[in-house]
Amino acid sequence: MQFRQLRLFQFKNYLQQEFTFSHKLICITGKNGCGKTTILDALHFLSFTKSYFLHQDQLSVSKDKAGMRIDALVEDQQEHASITCVLRELGKKELLLNNVPYTRFSEHIGKFPCIFICPDDTQLIMEGSEGRRRFLDMACSIVHPGYIAALNKYNKVLLQRNSLLKNWNHTSDQHSLLAVYNNQLALFSEPIFAYRKDVCGVLASYTKLIYNTLSQQSDVIETVYISTLNEQPLEVSLNQNQDKDIFSQRSNYGIHKDDWYFAINGMPMKQAASQGQKKSFLFGIKLALFQLIKDRLHKHAILLLDDFFEKLDEERASCLINYIVSLNTQVFFTDTHEERVKIAFEKYRNDVQLIKL
Ligand SMILES: Nc1ncnc2c1ncn2[C@@H]1O[C@H](COP(=O)(O)OP(=O)(O)O)[C@@H](O)[C@H]1O
Ligand SMILES: [Mg+2]
Repeated sequence: MQFRQLRLFQFKNYLQQEFTFSHKLICITGKNGCGKTTILDALHFLSFTKSYFLHQDQLSVSKDKAGMRIDALVEDQQEHASITCVLRELGKKELLLNNVPYTRFSEHIGKFPCIFICPDDTQLIMEGSEGRRRFLDMACSIVHPGYIAALNKYNKVLLQRNSLLKNWNHTSDQHSLLAVYNNQLALFSEPIFAYRKDVCGVLASYTKLIYNTLSQQSDVIETVYISTLNEQPLEVSLNQNQDKDIFSQRSNYGIHKDDWYFAINGMPMKQAASQGQKKSFLFGIKLALFQLIKDRLHKHAILLLDDFFEKLDEERASCLINYIVSLNTQVFFTDTHEERVKIAFEKYRNDVQLIKL
Protein backbone atom coordinates (compact mmCIF):
# COMPACT_ATOMS: atom_id res chain seq x y z
CA MET A 1 0.00 0.00 0.00
CA GLN A 2 1.34 3.39 -1.00
CA PHE A 3 0.06 6.95 -1.06
CA ARG A 4 0.48 8.27 -4.61
CA GLN A 5 -1.11 11.69 -4.40
CA LEU A 6 -2.25 14.07 -1.68
CA ARG A 7 -4.42 17.15 -2.18
CA LEU A 8 -5.01 19.63 0.59
CA PHE A 9 -7.60 22.38 0.68
CA GLN A 10 -7.61 24.83 3.61
CA PHE A 11 -5.76 22.36 5.83
CA LYS A 12 -3.62 24.29 8.36
CA ASN A 13 -1.03 26.36 6.41
CA TYR A 14 -1.99 24.85 3.02
CA LEU A 15 -4.76 26.77 1.27
CA GLN A 16 -4.52 24.66 -1.84
CA GLN A 17 -1.69 22.24 -2.56
CA GLU A 18 -1.00 18.99 -4.29
CA PHE A 19 1.79 16.47 -3.71
CA THR A 20 2.72 13.46 -5.80
CA PHE A 21 4.55 10.55 -4.21
CA SER A 22 6.43 8.38 -6.64
CA HIS A 23 8.68 6.35 -4.32
CA LYS A 24 8.60 4.13 -1.28
CA LEU A 25 10.85 6.38 0.75
CA ILE A 26 9.75 10.02 0.85
CA CYS A 27 11.98 12.56 2.59
CA ILE A 28 10.39 15.95 3.21
CA THR A 29 12.79 18.73 4.15
CA GLY A 30 12.35 22.40 4.93
CA LYS A 31 12.69 25.03 7.64
CA ASN A 32 10.72 24.99 10.88
CA GLY A 33 7.10 25.98 10.35
CA CYS A 34 7.02 25.35 6.60
CA GLY A 35 4.46 22.54 6.78
CA LYS A 36 6.34 19.22 7.00
CA THR A 37 4.46 17.83 9.99
CA THR A 38 1.21 19.06 8.42
CA ILE A 39 1.67 16.73 5.44
CA LEU A 40 2.13 13.75 7.75
CA ASP A 41 -0.85 14.83 9.82
CA ALA A 42 -3.01 15.00 6.67
CA LEU A 43 -2.07 11.37 5.92
CA HIS A 44 -2.86 10.46 9.53
CA PHE A 45 -6.24 12.20 9.12
CA LEU A 46 -7.05 9.96 6.16
CA SER A 47 -6.05 6.83 8.08
CA PHE A 48 -7.77 7.59 11.41
CA THR A 49 -10.29 10.32 10.44
CA LYS A 50 -8.55 12.68 12.85
CA SER A 51 -5.36 14.61 13.53
CA TYR A 52 -2.51 12.96 15.44
CA PHE A 53 -2.10 16.14 17.49
CA LEU A 54 -5.36 18.08 17.68
CA HIS A 55 -8.48 16.86 19.44
CA GLN A 56 -10.71 19.40 17.71
CA ASP A 57 -11.08 19.07 13.93
CA GLN A 58 -11.79 22.80 13.58
CA LEU A 59 -8.24 23.66 14.65
CA SER A 60 -6.91 22.02 11.47
CA VAL A 61 -8.89 24.40 9.24
CA SER A 62 -6.74 27.22 7.83
CA LYS A 63 -6.97 30.40 9.83
CA ASP A 64 -9.95 32.62 8.88
CA LYS A 65 -11.37 29.93 6.59
CA ALA A 66 -14.40 27.69 6.93
CA GLY A 67 -14.22 24.02 6.06
CA MET A 68 -11.37 21.91 4.72
CA ARG A 69 -10.75 18.91 2.51
CA ILE A 70 -8.06 16.24 2.24
CA ASP A 71 -7.92 13.85 -0.73
CA ALA A 72 -5.50 11.05 -1.47
CA LEU A 73 -4.96 8.36 -4.03
CA VAL A 74 -3.69 5.09 -2.65
CA GLU A 75 -2.25 2.21 -4.58
CA ASP A 76 -2.75 -1.19 -3.01
CA GLN A 77 -1.62 -4.34 -4.85
CA GLN A 78 -2.16 -2.74 -8.27
CA GLU A 79 -5.59 -1.46 -7.24
CA HIS A 80 -6.29 2.23 -6.78
CA ALA A 81 -8.47 3.80 -4.14
CA SER A 82 -9.36 7.37 -3.28
CA ILE A 83 -9.89 8.54 0.27
CA THR A 84 -11.50 11.88 1.02
CA CYS A 85 -12.07 13.61 4.31
CA VAL A 86 -14.17 16.77 4.29
CA LEU A 87 -15.01 19.10 7.12
CA ARG A 88 -18.00 21.16 6.00
CA GLU A 89 -18.35 24.87 6.77
CA LEU A 90 -20.65 24.15 9.73
CA GLY A 91 -18.28 21.52 11.16
CA LYS A 92 -19.85 18.29 9.86
CA LYS A 93 -17.22 15.70 8.97
CA GLU A 94 -17.55 13.31 6.03
CA LEU A 95 -15.35 10.45 4.99
CA LEU A 96 -15.48 8.83 1.57
CA LEU A 97 -13.82 5.81 0.03
CA ASN A 98 -13.88 5.88 -3.78
CA ASN A 99 -16.45 8.70 -3.49
CA VAL A 100 -18.80 6.54 -1.40
CA PRO A 101 -19.49 8.06 2.04
CA TYR A 102 -19.15 5.94 5.16
CA THR A 103 -22.04 5.78 7.58
CA ARG A 104 -19.69 4.63 10.35
CA PHE A 105 -16.15 6.04 10.41
CA SER A 106 -15.03 3.10 12.57
CA GLU A 107 -15.42 0.86 9.48
CA HIS A 108 -12.55 2.77 7.88
CA ILE A 109 -10.05 2.23 10.72
CA GLY A 110 -7.54 -0.46 9.78
CA LYS A 111 -8.15 -0.24 6.02
CA PHE A 112 -5.18 2.08 5.41
CA PRO A 113 -3.11 1.82 8.59
CA CYS A 114 -0.45 4.43 9.32
CA ILE A 115 1.90 4.67 12.27
CA PHE A 116 3.02 8.13 13.35
CA ILE A 117 6.31 8.46 15.25
CA CYS A 118 7.58 11.81 16.47
CA PRO A 119 9.91 13.18 19.17
CA ASP A 120 6.94 14.22 21.37
CA ASP A 121 6.09 10.54 21.74
CA THR A 122 8.39 10.42 24.79
CA GLN A 123 5.18 11.57 26.56
CA LEU A 124 4.16 7.94 26.27
CA ILE A 125 6.93 7.09 28.75
CA MET A 126 7.17 10.28 30.76
CA GLU A 127 3.59 11.39 31.33
CA GLY A 128 0.31 10.09 32.76
CA SER A 129 -1.60 6.98 31.80
CA GLU A 130 -4.01 8.76 29.43
CA GLY A 131 -1.53 8.90 26.55
CA ARG A 132 -0.67 5.21 26.98
CA ARG A 133 -4.34 4.26 26.94
CA ARG A 134 -4.80 6.41 23.81
CA PHE A 135 -1.99 4.54 22.04
CA LEU A 136 -3.39 1.22 23.17
CA ASP A 137 -6.89 2.19 22.00
CA MET A 138 -5.48 3.21 18.62
CA ALA A 139 -3.62 -0.10 18.28
CA CYS A 140 -6.67 -2.15 19.34
CA SER A 141 -8.96 -0.22 16.98
CA ILE A 142 -6.75 -1.12 14.01
CA VAL A 143 -6.58 -4.86 14.64
CA HIS A 144 -9.98 -5.48 16.29
CA PRO A 145 -12.88 -4.12 14.22
CA GLY A 146 -15.34 -4.23 17.15
CA TYR A 147 -13.09 -2.30 19.51
CA ILE A 148 -14.31 1.28 18.99
CA ALA A 149 -17.98 0.31 19.31
CA ALA A 150 -17.21 -1.63 22.53
CA LEU A 151 -15.28 1.31 23.98
CA ASN A 152 -18.06 3.77 23.08
CA LYS A 153 -20.63 1.60 24.83
CA TYR A 154 -18.47 1.40 27.94
CA ASN A 155 -17.77 5.15 27.98
CA LYS A 156 -21.45 5.99 27.65
CA VAL A 157 -22.34 3.95 30.76
CA LEU A 158 -19.33 5.39 32.59
CA LEU A 159 -20.60 8.93 31.95
CA GLN A 160 -24.07 7.98 33.23
CA ARG A 161 -22.60 6.29 36.31
CA ASN A 162 -20.41 9.31 37.10
CA SER A 163 -23.34 11.65 36.68
CA LEU A 164 -25.36 9.52 39.12
CA LEU A 165 -22.48 9.60 41.64
CA LYS A 166 -22.23 13.39 41.35
CA ASN A 167 -25.92 13.78 42.16
CA TRP A 168 -26.04 11.11 44.86
CA ASN A 169 -28.78 11.47 47.50
CA HIS A 170 -29.01 7.94 48.96
CA THR A 171 -32.44 7.00 47.63
CA SER A 172 -33.19 3.35 46.99
CA ASP A 173 -33.89 4.20 43.34
CA GLN A 174 -30.37 5.46 43.01
CA HIS A 175 -29.01 2.31 44.62
CA SER A 176 -30.82 0.13 42.12
CA LEU A 177 -29.73 2.32 39.21
CA LEU A 178 -26.14 2.06 40.41
CA ALA A 179 -26.46 -1.72 40.51
CA VAL A 180 -27.65 -1.64 36.87
CA TYR A 181 -24.72 0.55 35.84
CA ASN A 182 -22.27 -1.70 37.71
CA ASN A 183 -23.59 -4.68 35.84
CA GLN A 184 -23.44 -2.96 32.43
CA LEU A 185 -20.00 -1.49 33.02
CA ALA A 186 -18.67 -4.91 33.99
CA LEU A 187 -20.28 -6.51 30.95
CA PHE A 188 -18.99 -3.90 28.48
CA SER A 189 -15.50 -3.92 29.97
CA GLU A 190 -14.99 -7.61 29.15
CA PRO A 191 -14.34 -7.41 25.39
CA ILE A 192 -12.17 -4.30 25.85
CA PHE A 193 -10.08 -6.05 28.49
CA ALA A 194 -9.68 -9.08 26.23
CA TYR A 195 -8.66 -6.95 23.21
CA ARG A 196 -6.18 -4.91 25.26
CA LYS A 197 -4.67 -8.02 26.84
CA ASP A 198 -4.21 -9.59 23.43
CA VAL A 199 -2.61 -6.48 21.88
CA CYS A 200 -0.37 -5.78 24.90
CA GLY A 201 0.83 -9.38 24.88
CA VAL A 202 1.86 -9.33 21.24
CA LEU A 203 3.36 -5.83 21.42
CA ALA A 204 5.39 -6.86 24.50
CA SER A 205 7.26 -9.62 22.68
CA TYR A 206 7.81 -7.67 19.45
CA THR A 207 8.95 -4.57 21.36
CA LYS A 208 11.69 -6.57 23.13
CA LEU A 209 12.93 -8.04 19.87
CA ILE A 210 12.94 -4.77 17.92
CA TYR A 211 14.49 -2.82 20.81
CA ASN A 212 17.41 -5.22 20.98
CA THR A 213 17.89 -5.15 17.21
CA LEU A 214 17.84 -1.35 17.12
CA SER A 215 19.91 -0.61 20.18
CA GLN A 216 22.29 -3.54 19.69
CA GLN A 217 22.31 -3.86 23.45
CA SER A 218 21.00 -6.52 25.74
CA ASP A 219 18.83 -4.34 27.99
CA VAL A 220 15.89 -6.18 29.47
CA ILE A 221 12.70 -4.48 28.30
CA GLU A 222 9.34 -5.13 29.93
CA THR A 223 5.92 -3.80 28.99
CA VAL A 224 3.14 -4.90 31.35
CA TYR A 225 -0.59 -4.30 30.94
CA ILE A 226 -1.95 -3.07 34.26
CA SER A 227 -5.63 -3.56 34.97
CA THR A 228 -7.61 -4.50 38.08
CA LEU A 229 -9.42 -6.90 35.74
CA ASN A 230 -6.26 -8.99 35.81
CA GLU A 231 -7.03 -9.74 39.48
CA GLN A 232 -10.80 -9.94 39.65
CA PRO A 233 -13.91 -9.25 37.56
CA LEU A 234 -14.89 -5.58 37.41
CA GLU A 235 -18.26 -6.19 39.03
CA VAL A 236 -16.52 -7.44 42.18
CA SER A 237 -14.31 -4.32 42.36
CA LEU A 238 -17.31 -2.05 41.76
CA ASN A 239 -19.35 -3.70 44.49
CA GLN A 240 -16.46 -3.79 46.96
CA ASN A 241 -15.68 -0.12 46.43
CA GLN A 242 -19.12 1.35 46.06
CA ASP A 243 -18.82 3.52 49.18
CA LYS A 244 -15.52 4.94 47.95
CA ASP A 245 -17.09 5.81 44.57
CA ILE A 246 -20.06 7.47 46.26
CA PHE A 247 -17.80 9.44 48.56
CA SER A 248 -15.43 10.60 45.80
CA GLN A 249 -18.32 11.04 43.31
CA ARG A 250 -16.54 9.19 40.54
CA SER A 251 -15.76 5.72 39.22
CA ASN A 252 -12.39 4.62 40.64
CA TYR A 253 -12.34 1.16 39.06
CA GLY A 254 -12.67 0.08 35.47
CA ILE A 255 -10.82 -0.18 32.20
CA HIS A 256 -10.70 3.65 32.00
CA LYS A 257 -8.05 3.37 34.76
CA ASP A 258 -5.88 0.79 32.96
CA ASP A 259 -2.20 1.55 32.44
CA TRP A 260 0.82 0.14 30.75
CA TYR A 261 4.01 -0.21 32.75
CA PHE A 262 7.33 0.11 30.93
CA ALA A 263 10.59 -1.03 32.53
CA ILE A 264 14.22 -1.31 31.54
CA ASN A 265 16.59 -3.65 33.38
CA GLY A 266 14.06 -4.01 36.21
CA MET A 267 13.60 -0.28 36.76
CA PRO A 268 10.81 2.07 35.62
CA MET A 269 11.70 3.33 32.15
CA LYS A 270 10.61 6.85 33.07
CA GLN A 271 13.40 7.15 35.65
CA ALA A 272 16.06 4.77 34.45
CA ALA A 273 16.27 5.06 30.66
CA SER A 274 18.69 7.39 28.86
CA GLN A 275 17.47 9.58 25.96
CA GLY A 276 18.81 7.06 23.47
CA GLN A 277 17.20 4.12 25.26
CA LYS A 278 13.85 5.93 25.37
CA LYS A 279 14.10 6.69 21.69
CA SER A 280 14.89 3.05 20.82
CA PHE A 281 12.02 1.91 23.03
CA LEU A 282 9.55 4.24 21.31
CA PHE A 283 10.60 3.01 17.90
CA GLY A 284 10.43 -0.52 19.31
CA ILE A 285 6.86 -0.26 20.56
CA LYS A 286 5.59 1.57 17.47
CA LEU A 287 7.29 -0.80 15.06
CA ALA A 288 5.92 -3.67 17.16
CA LEU A 289 2.52 -2.34 16.12
CA PHE A 290 3.69 -2.53 12.50
CA GLN A 291 4.40 -6.25 12.99
CA LEU A 292 1.08 -6.84 14.75
CA ILE A 293 -0.80 -5.19 11.85
CA LYS A 294 1.19 -7.27 9.39
CA ASP A 295 0.40 -10.52 11.28
CA ARG A 296 -3.29 -9.84 11.75
CA LEU A 297 -4.35 -7.78 8.72
CA HIS A 298 -1.61 -8.83 6.26
CA LYS A 299 -1.00 -5.15 5.56
CA HIS A 300 2.15 -3.07 5.63
CA ALA A 301 1.29 0.05 7.64
CA ILE A 302 2.68 3.28 6.24
CA LEU A 303 5.22 4.91 8.55
CA LEU A 304 5.09 8.64 9.26
CA LEU A 305 8.39 9.57 10.91
CA ASP A 306 8.37 13.21 11.93
CA ASP A 307 11.63 15.04 12.75
CA PHE A 308 13.31 11.71 12.29
CA PHE A 309 16.88 12.70 13.18
CA GLU A 310 16.03 14.61 16.35
CA LYS A 311 17.94 13.22 19.36
CA LEU A 312 19.34 10.36 17.27
CA ASP A 313 23.08 9.94 16.93
CA GLU A 314 24.46 8.96 13.52
CA GLU A 315 24.90 5.31 14.38
CA ARG A 316 21.40 4.87 15.83
CA ALA A 317 19.89 6.74 12.86
CA SER A 318 21.72 4.57 10.34
CA CYS A 319 20.70 1.38 12.15
CA LEU A 320 17.08 2.56 12.24
CA ILE A 321 17.04 3.49 8.56
CA ASN A 322 18.33 0.04 7.60
CA TYR A 323 15.72 -1.63 9.77
CA ILE A 324 12.89 0.57 8.46
CA VAL A 325 13.87 0.06 4.82
CA SER A 326 13.90 -3.69 5.44
CA LEU A 327 10.19 -3.51 6.41
CA ASN A 328 9.44 -2.90 2.73
CA THR A 329 6.71 -0.33 3.24
CA GLN A 330 6.16 3.30 2.27
CA VAL A 331 7.84 5.65 4.73
CA PHE A 332 7.61 9.42 5.05
CA PHE A 333 10.54 11.07 6.86
CA THR A 334 10.75 14.76 7.72
CA ASP A 335 13.81 16.75 8.68
CA THR A 336 15.06 20.32 8.65
CA HIS A 337 18.47 19.52 7.07
CA GLU A 338 18.51 18.46 3.44
CA GLU A 339 22.22 17.61 3.50
CA ARG A 340 21.86 15.36 6.54
CA VAL A 341 19.06 13.49 4.80
CA LYS A 342 21.06 13.07 1.59
CA ILE A 343 24.00 11.64 3.48
CA ALA A 344 21.89 9.33 5.63
CA PHE A 345 20.01 7.93 2.63
CA GLU A 346 22.99 7.76 0.24
CA LYS A 347 22.81 3.95 0.18
CA TYR A 348 19.14 4.04 -0.84
CA ARG A 349 19.26 7.08 -3.12
CA ASN A 350 17.46 5.33 -6.01
CA ASP A 351 14.49 4.56 -3.76
CA VAL A 352 14.19 8.02 -2.26
CA GLN A 353 12.02 10.91 -3.36
CA LEU A 354 13.17 14.20 -1.87
CA ILE A 355 10.53 16.89 -1.41
CA LYS A 356 11.88 20.33 -0.55
CA LEU A 357 9.32 22.74 0.91
N1 LIG B 1 -5.13 26.27 11.42
C1 LIG B 1 -4.04 26.80 10.87
N2 LIG B 1 -4.14 27.78 9.92
C2 LIG B 1 -3.05 28.31 9.34
N3 LIG B 1 -1.79 27.94 9.66
C3 LIG B 1 -1.63 26.99 10.59
C4 LIG B 1 -2.74 26.37 11.24
N4 LIG B 1 -2.27 25.46 12.13
C5 LIG B 1 -0.92 25.52 12.03
N5 LIG B 1 -0.55 26.44 11.12
C6 LIG B 1 0.82 26.80 10.71
O1 LIG B 1 1.28 25.82 9.81
C7 LIG B 1 2.69 25.94 9.72
C8 LIG B 1 3.28 24.59 9.47
O2 LIG B 1 3.41 23.84 10.63
P1 LIG B 1 4.18 22.46 10.68
O3 LIG B 1 3.64 21.56 9.64
O4 LIG B 1 4.13 22.01 12.08
O5 LIG B 1 5.65 22.90 10.27
P2 LIG B 1 7.02 22.05 10.29
O6 LIG B 1 6.69 20.67 10.67
O7 LIG B 1 7.57 22.16 8.90
O8 LIG B 1 7.91 22.72 11.28
C9 LIG B 1 3.15 26.62 11.00
O9 LIG B 1 3.71 27.86 10.63
C10 LIG B 1 1.88 26.80 11.78
O10 LIG B 1 1.87 27.99 12.48
MG1 LIG C 1 7.31 19.68 12.39
